Amino acid sequence: MYIDTHSHLFDSAFDLDRDLVIKECFNQNVGKLIVVGFDKETNKLALELCSKYANLYPTVGLHPTELSDYSDNFFVYLEDLIKDEKIVGIGECGLDYYWDDSKKDLQKEVFKKQIELSLKYDKPLIIHSRDAIADTLEVLKSVNKPIKGVMHGYSGSLEMAKEFVKLGLKLGIGGVLTFKNAKNVKEVVKELDLSNFVLETDCPYLTPTPYRGKRNAPYYIPLIAKEMADIKGIDIKEVEETTTKNANELFGGRLL
Ligand code: NI
Repeated sequence: MYIDTHSHLFDSAFDLDRDLVIKECFNQNVGKLIVVGFDKETNKLALELCSKYANLYPTVGLHPTELSDYSDNFFVYLEDLIKDEKIVGIGECGLDYYWDDSKKDLQKEVFKKQIELSLKYDKPLIIHSRDAIADTLEVLKSVNKPIKGVMHGYSGSLEMAKEFVKLGLKLGIGGVLTFKNAKNVKEVVKELDLSNFVLETDCPYLTPTPYRGKRNAPYYIPLIAKEMADIKGIDIKEVEETTTKNANELFGGRLL
């Protein structure tokens, strides 16, 4: 059984057939789905959706491109949510200088506060990093404590991947792995041990080949696993079992 560690199933792209998509995931052996919120609205949607299904698990957080939701009492609200046993992780959080690099300090502050919550409640971080990989590493290192989490949609260099792994983080591998020109992530998958990876779709975005350009969904996870197995020259069953074990360990037994 596979686990999709990063989906946005509350997205309006699924409004017409969400129940069918979820049923199809279970049919395709993708038996557990983590539904990732990223601002006040989507945190609520993630919680609502996951309350309807036994094998959907919500995370809540504040994405660096959604700082307009940040106010004095934001972290009171967020911590209240995180105390709930049903919440399995914190994020998406992190740094994004691609869309807006004018508020780097604020992004770092909001990221650090979510790292603190992760440590306090022992729930893993779902970390987004775009055009900000060096600063992301620096912020994580500055905490100077073992950190649990996943570098979501990892597509950086092998050298940086090793740094994140050293901190104790997993690397989230998605549909980009199946793209012909995705040299970095193919190299990372080839060189690092399978124990470092979890699978994810980031649906409805980043659909794997051969469905690139269409809506992504968690039932495409086996396509990513197949590519991983081919690159490493191992059986797809080993990818399935090990990435699922990695995800279960990362989420500290909360995916039950
Ligand atoms: Ni995402």
